[in-house]
Amino acid sequence: MDTRLLMMQLAYLRSAVLFILGLKRLSHPDTARGGNQLAAIGMLVAVVATLVGGEIISWQWIIGGLLIGAAVGGLMARLVKMTAMPQMVGLFNGFGGLASGLVAAAEYLRYTHGKVIESGAVVSDVPLDSSVSILIGTLIGAVTFSGSLVAFGKLQGVVTEKAVKFTGQQVLNAGLFVGILALMGWLIITTPEAISAADPASVNLWYWVLWGAAMLLGILLVIPIGGADMPVVVSLLNSYSGLAASAAGFVLNNNVLIISGALVGASGLILTRIMCKAMNRSLANVIFGSFGEAAGKGPVAKGEKRTMADVNDVQADDVAMLLAYAKQVVIVPGYGLAVAQAQHKLRELCDNLESRGVNVKYVVHPVAGRMPGHMNVLLAEANVPYNQLYEPEDVNPDMANVDACLVVGANDVVNPAARDDPDSDLYGMPIIEVDRSKHTVVMKRSLNPGFAGLDNELFYLRNTMMLFGDAGDSIGRILEEVKQL
Ligand code: TAP
Repeated sequence: MDTRLLMMQLAYLRSAVLFILGLKRLSHPDTARGGNQLAAIGMLVAVVATLVGGEIISWQWIIGGLLIGAAVGGLMARLVKMTAMPQMVGLFNGFGGLASGLVAAAEYLRYTHGKVIESGAVVSDVPLDSSVSILIGTLIGAVTFSGSLVAFGKLQGVVTEKAVKFTGQQVLNAGLFVGILALMGWLIITTPEAISAADPASVNLWYWVLWGAAMLLGILLVIPIGGADMPVVVSLLNSYSGLAASAAGFVLNNNVLIISGALVGASGLILTRIMCKAMNRSLANVIFGSFGEAAGKGPVAKGEKRTMADVNDVQADDVAMLLAYAKQVVIVPGYGLAVAQAQHKLRELCDNLESRGVNVKYVVHPVAGRMPGHMNVLLAEANVPYNQLYEPEDVNPDMANVDACLVVGANDVVNPAARDDPDSDLYGMPIIEVDRSKHTVVMKRSLNPGFAGLDNELFYLRNTMMLFGDAGDSIGRILEEVKQL
């Protein structure tokens, strides 16, 4: 191995180690920022090593791509709302899959166009190991691309949120998958010359048929899943995009791409499992069931419909009094906090309470919000100290001693039906048991259900107070009142 190649491989090894250490650090809020930086340094090392490695053919394309990509990425980062992050991540996964698929396509065309020359002779038959990785990269890349576009469309509301199901769907999907595998097998064993001898126009045609069939499979796999389950699907597609990158690494013989793709694939799968577990659902139930189709579009109450007259409606001054004179306050953030962007005001209110000697704990449910770590990101943005963040199992046992729980735009994650009602769709999902505290204040705009589309018995309990309105406005009013006490 010449020195240049050795240096490049060593740099790749270094960046792989940095990725692994970075991922490890992401597992705790205290170390997550550092982990992110380590992984970013790892990526920089890999990019620089590739650029100076001497295999660059055209700098114009790289610089052009860099400028356009940086401009689009920078603009998106500024313009996209926090609540639209899940679909943005979905889109990025899709582009990752497309990029890996295109790498595979470029390599395939390089062979079939006679651009690969070994020992002075043109190699037009794709070698077995290369063709296997090229075709696997193509399949996963194309499925990830089209599946992610559908997931993006569902989350963005441009494709129906409803699960699109029809008779014979599973049979069609299975048939298409078997057909794709057969085509891949045929492309592997048949040389391009043999294809072109039969019909000169058919060189590469079957390869593009594979692309089309794989993209169709991606669409068919995602359309039967309801919009409500898209975050889990996005996480699964994220894992696929990693596998596609890994396959691209095999195509290019690039170790860092193989390792980083495998890391993304494995972590995406672990995250999918964690999300399913926190929702008490199996992955099969997410993929083949149609829970929460078009969720959140109206209250789905069991039994008689309840109204505002059934709840204990309070004002900000009552809540301010309750909080300011409490010993222990638990804050439960949910999706509504993200919608209201009230994290900074919430932090200000909690700081004020702490300065009065109130013990404040933020309790974060693993699936609160709409994407993994959604609440952690919001609270970190407002610089809430990590040592004030707790998990449900840390506080639930002591809930009876908590003076007041402030539920800020959360709903499903505090629904007692998940614990008490075996007929509820939420049954079995671990919750934050605010109903067992002395007093609960729920901040939301109406009695509408949350993501799961289910009514919440919590709102009608005797020790629950409802403070209606946008969470940001409500917290602002409470803060003003607290300051005057
Ligand atoms: P949800 O149950 O979705 O409830 C959010 C509540 O916020 C709604 O009831 C809504 O009521 C309220 N809200 C919206 N905008 C508001 C505003 N501006 N001010 C005040 N309140 C506002 O949220 P959750 O408790 O965080 O639970 C998350 C749900 O998402 C779970 O069912 C979970 O399974 C699901 N899910 C999460 C993930 C991840 S990874 N986080 C992934 C997939 C699914 P109003 O409209 O009445 O205001």
